[in-house]
Amino acid sequence: MTKQTTLLNNKVVIVTGGSAGCGWGFTLSCLKAGANVIVADLNPLSDDKQAILDEHSYSVDYVKTDVSSSSSIEQLVEQAKALHGRIDGLVNNAGLTITGDFMAFDLDTVDRLYKTNLRSVFLMSQTVAKVMIEQGGGVIVNVASNHAQASAAEYEMYAATKGGICAMTRAMSWSLGKHGIRVNSLCPGLTRTEPIDEMVKNDPTLEQTFNALHATRTFNSVEQLGQVGVFLLSDMSASMTGTEVVADQGLLAGLVNSDVLS
Ligand SMILES: NC(=O)c1ccc[n+]([C@@H]2O[C@H](COP(=O)([O-])OP(=O)(O)OC[C@H]3O[C@@H](n4cnc5c(N)ncnc54)[C@H](O)[C@@H]3O)[C@@H](O)[C@H]2O)c1
Repeated sequence: MTKQTTLLNNKVVIVTGGSAGCGWGFTLSCLKAGANVIVADLNPLSDDKQAILDEHSYSVDYVKTDVSSSSSIEQLVEQAKALHGRIDGLVNNAGLTITGDFMAFDLDTVDRLYKTNLRSVFLMSQTVAKVMIEQGGGVIVNVASNHAQASAAEYEMYAATKGGICAMTRAMSWSLGKHGIRVNSLCPGLTRTEPIDEMVKNDPTLEQTFNALHATRTFNSVEQLGQVGVFLLSDMSASMTGTEVVADQGLLAGLVNSDVLS
């Protein structure tokens, strides 16, 4: 299959958590845009995803990685350099969504969320930026969430990690801008990952409820999110750094749901 765009032609892009969910959307969209993709995930691609790659004659380099471990990140970056000699793009996507009663939320889960969602973005970016500085530039996309800007009960620690990603991104854009590196946050809203797809298939009324929350009366596919990722990784967004792009089908833009009031 021919590549769909040449926006990332021959660029080397690492996607953390790239085997499934939103990460799979970034992986596939980057491949379609011509990139060489390194999938850095705890788990390899499932057989059905590998079949999609085979069908399109795409391939990825899979490097087993735990983004909550600094030694695992070091090994990933060494392997990326050995494979391709450079790293042009990094999508810091891997993250956990764990919510629960604020008054009963335990410290172990707080620490797990901090390490996997926030500290990982710091460590991955710092380690990859060393390579990008040496080669004279690159692009980092930090996947946050619309919970960085408005949230809900029981999302306290998740929202904190996502708000932290956006704040860190702003500072990082100034540390790295002079080296030709752009850094932006991408804030997705509800996205149809495999578990969410399963949930709405089992309960069609849930899909209607989800749809009604959004200005477009639909919610993101992982492919749609992947396209925004490609935009942020490519020169199409050359004027953007230190900012955040909200990709949530208008959810955050709505103060009240006018359908409910009418
Ligand atoms: N799905 C949504 O609706 C949604 C909305 C907003 C933001 N996000 C953000 O998108 C990102 C991906 O979320 P998702 O819903 O696709 O998750 P997911 O659970 O569907 O997939 C996460 C992937 O990351 C991998 N992973 C988990 N922990 C890892 C680790 N320590 N090291 C390396 N890989 C690891 C998993 O193996 C999996 O392949 C997260 O940062 C999440 O906060 C998701």
